[in-house]
Amino acid sequence: MKTIYADMTAGIDRKLMQKAGDILLSGGLVAFPTETVYGLGGNALDAEASRKIYAAKGRPSDNPLIVHIAEFDALERIVTEVPQEARDLADAFWPGPMTMILNKNDRVPASTTGGLGTVAIRMPDNEIAAEMIRAGGGYIAAPSANTSGRPSPTTAQHVKDDLDGKIDMIIDGGPVGIGVESTIIDLTEKIPMILRPGYINMEMLRGVLGEVRMDPGLHFNDPNFHPKAPGMKYRHYAPKAPLTIVEGPQERVVEAIRSLTAQKEAAGGKVGIIATDESAAAYDRGIVKSIGTRTEEITISMHLYGILRDFDDLGVDVIYSEAFDTPRMGQAIMNRLIKAAGHQVIKV
Ligand code: TXA
Ligand code: MG
Repeated sequence: MKTIYADMTAGIDRKLMQKAGDILLSGGLVAFPTETVYGLGGNALDAEASRKIYAAKGRPSDNPLIVHIAEFDALERIVTEVPQEARDLADAFWPGPMTMILNKNDRVPASTTGGLGTVAIRMPDNEIAAEMIRAGGGYIAAPSANTSGRPSPTTAQHVKDDLDGKIDMIIDGGPVGIGVESTIIDLTEKIPMILRPGYINMEMLRGVLGEVRMDPGLHFNDPNFHPKAPGMKYRHYAPKAPLTIVEGPQERVVEAIRSLTAQKEAAGGKVGIIATDESAAAYDRGIVKSIGTRTEEITISMHLYGILRDFDDLGVDVIYSEAFDTPRMGQAIMNRLIKAAGHQVIKV
């Protein structure tokens, strides 16, 4: 298949947008930018389109998709009822990086929700995404636009690297602003539950809902605890080289990574180091990349997946990373990093 590449970095191209809508309405797939990561869109109400999404990504079909909408009214048409909490959350955070889980009605095919009776819904905060959703019929199922198991794409080039030739169109809207996937909040639980941490954090959700809890399945590295979001159980976001996180007071972390790097290089290994603007100069060996600055945590989330892909391209044998327990987004960033590391964390 020849993938159409639509450059909209300078603004929306009406003709190509119409083409994207036509592709979606006839069951095809279009990758598009959102404020979190790039999505791989297909018509959410078309069971065949959902199946194509799973096939293009190589994704297990028990892992449900998020339905993207551009208008709040669209939500009412695919769920059994709209609780007051959903209205309050939408008022506070939509359009934005938050996904709600509600009970679905029959308009949403089982293939979109991985057979579940609930549906994940989000209204992204991106003009290209909103236009494309409207052009494509109003309900766009979209997982992150990466090959399953690879880090999520934060640029159109990442999408191209994974899916060129496998989908109908890629819309380039430039690099994303947040870099980690939306917060998922489940409103079908008695106490609203966070199934995936993101930019909209626990405190922000509590400000609207009162009591909110974190899915206990996320905390434990124990096979007896299962996260409720099927996608959170996979070893996602994996770079090719094994990644180890080193956690502790900053000077000790730097010292430990320096010594691990020296050992590995002495044994002939190629080492990648994930540092920050504050610490990068402290490493004198290895391939050092700064992920961003600790004084502005969004710079860290924005570059996380891209850096993992860069180290894939460089063919390093191991990666060592500092921990990033930043105040607002630390939970979201560390959730992704720990998964990328397959839970390999050294405490110093
Ligand atoms: O920021 C985002 O949410 C991005 C952009 C493209 O919007 N999308 C995204 O989709 O991250 P994806 O498919 O990579 O992740 C969807 C997650 C998975 O962990 C899935 O298991 C969970 O949402 N999920 C979807 N529907 C669900 C449901 N009904 N109940 C529980 N978890 C659900
Ligand atoms: Mg994903």
